[in-house]
Amino acid sequence: MPAETATEVTALIIAKFDKALHDRSAFSCGFGPIDTFLKSSLSDHTRDGLVAAWMAVEENERAVLGFYTLGALAVRAEFGPKKWQRTRIPDIPVIYIRAVAVRKDMQGNGLGTALVIDAMKRCLDISDQMGAAAIVLDVLEDAYFDRRWNFYANLGFQPLGDPDNPHRVYIPMADVRATLI
Ligand SMILES: CC(C)(COP(=O)(O)OP(=O)(O)OC[C@H]1O[C@@H](n2cnc3c(N)ncnc32)[C@H](O)[C@@H]1OP(=O)(O)O)[C@@H](O)C(=O)NCCC(=O)NCCS
Repeated sequence: MPAETATEVTALIIAKFDKALHDRSAFSCGFGPIDTFLKSSLSDHTRDGLVAAWMAVEENERAVLGFYTLGALAVRAEFGPKKWQRTRIPDIPVIYIRAVAVRKDMQGNGLGTALVIDAMKRCLDISDQMGAAAIVLDVLEDAYFDRRWNFYANLGFQPLGDPDNPHRVYIPMADVRATLI
């Protein structure tokens, strides 16, 4: 590449949350409840086993640029694909992406997609160790709902059809496997 067109590319790392290593103080994604969760609740929630969290940082830097969290969840078999209903298991085990967010100044550059794909790979690995039929998340509702919905639809998520959680979407683990492998 000619010198005048060269750009400095810094490697991004997605690492397990470590309260002592990851600096969350300057993080803001534009959605207040997520920022508050990251700064005020995440440490307690990881300590208590409610979620596991992964942080995107630049190599050798501490500032959090993006993150996601995973937790266990069961969804009712009457929703989702027909084959869940045929199992006669009332509660289908899934993995729940409780939060995913990118720092505002970093949005629109592919980091959100990279985080969800990293989460999908991790969920696939987890599903080799314990039953998990799908990845599920709730699309947050505000003025950017349609953009957010498209973001997840482009990654293969589809509506679960749960009237109590109308913005809940899922992707079967078999589809995750087919997409990633
Ligand atoms: C949604 C979000 C994680 C996407 O991360 P990102 O790094 O901007 O995403 P990518 O660059 O990989 O992909 C861009 C797509 O993300 C979506 N997106 C971008 N900015 C967004 C925003 N402020 N709000 C919602 N969706 C957004 C759009 O679908 C966009 O595609 P488009 O430009 O064609 O409309 C990020 O915008 C964010 O943190 N938003 C605020 C918090 C949030 O909405 N979290 C999701 C909770 S369900």
